[in-house]
Amino acid sequence: MALFKKKEVNSIEDIILPEHVGIIMDGNGRWAKKRGLPRSAGHSAGANNFRKIIRYCSDIGIKYLTMYAFSTENWRRPEDEVSALMKLFKQYLEEALRDFKDDSIKLRFIGDTTAFREDIQELMKEAVEGSKDRDGMVLNLAMNYGGRDEIVRAAKVISERVLKGEISPEEINEQMISDSIYTAGQPDPDLIIRPSGEYRTSNFLLWQSAYSEYVIMDKLWPDFSKDDMNFALLEYAKRNRRFGGV
Ligand code: FPP
Repeated sequence: MALFKKKEVNSIEDIILPEHVGIIMDGNGRWAKKRGLPRSAGHSAGANNFRKIIRYCSDIGIKYLTMYAFSTENWRRPEDEVSALMKLFKQYLEEALRDFKDDSIKLRFIGDTTAFREDIQELMKEAVEGSKDRDGMVLNLAMNYGGRDEIVRAAKVISERVLKGEISPEEINEQMISDSIYTAGQPDPDLIIRPSGEYRTSNFLLWQSAYSEYVIMDKLWPDFSKDDMNFALLEYAKRNRRFGGV
C-alpha cells in the first residue's frame, strides 16, 4: 500500500497518516537519573509530555491513539513510585474532566481498571461517560494493561460461549478474539512508537500489533518532541506494508 501522496516527502502534509498509533512511554526513570532527580520527577515530566503529544496527535488528525501508561507488571515497582504514578493519573483525570467542555477527545481505558483505587476508578468512569459522544480522536489509555492478560480474558469469554452452547470450538476464529479484547471495534495499530531505544514489545498490544510497523527512537519519553513524532510518522510512511503478501 503506497503511503505517499507525493514523491518528495519532507513533511507530514505529504503523507497518509496512520489511523491508529500506539506509544510506549518509556525512559522516564533514565531521564530523571541523568539529572540526579528521583524517578517520580521523570514520571512527572513524562506526564507533561503525554499532555503535549496527545494534543498534537489530535490536532494533526490521528484517529486512534493508544498510550501505554501502566502495565500489569508495573505494580512491582517500589511503593513510592507507584503512588507517584497514581497521583499523576488522578491529576490528569481531574484536569481532563475540568477542561472537558472544550475538548473533542474521546477517552477510553484498556486494561483491568478494577485494580485501581476507588477514587481513580470513579474518575475513569466519569471521563469515559462524559466523552463518549464526541467525534474527535479516540485516546486509549492503557492502565493495568497487559497483552497476555488481555488474550487470557478473551479466551475466558469465548470459552463461556462454548460452554453455553452458543458456538462450537471449531467456530472460534481470529475475528472472535479481536471482538473480545479491550480494543474491540477499533482498527489495529498501524504504527507503534517506542522511545528510549529499547527493542521490546513489553506486553503492549500483542494481538493487535501482528502487522504494526515499529519505530524505535533513541529519545527518552520526557524529551520526545512533536518533531520526533513527525519523524516517526515520516518513517512509517516510507515502509512498504505487505501484511504477509508480496
Ligand atoms: C516507563 O518508563 C514508564 C512508565 C512505567 C510510566 C509511564 C507513565 C507516564 C509517562 C505518566 C503518564 C501520565 C498520565 C497522566 C497518563 P520507566 O520509568 O520504566 O523508564 P526507565 O526504563 O528509564 O526506568
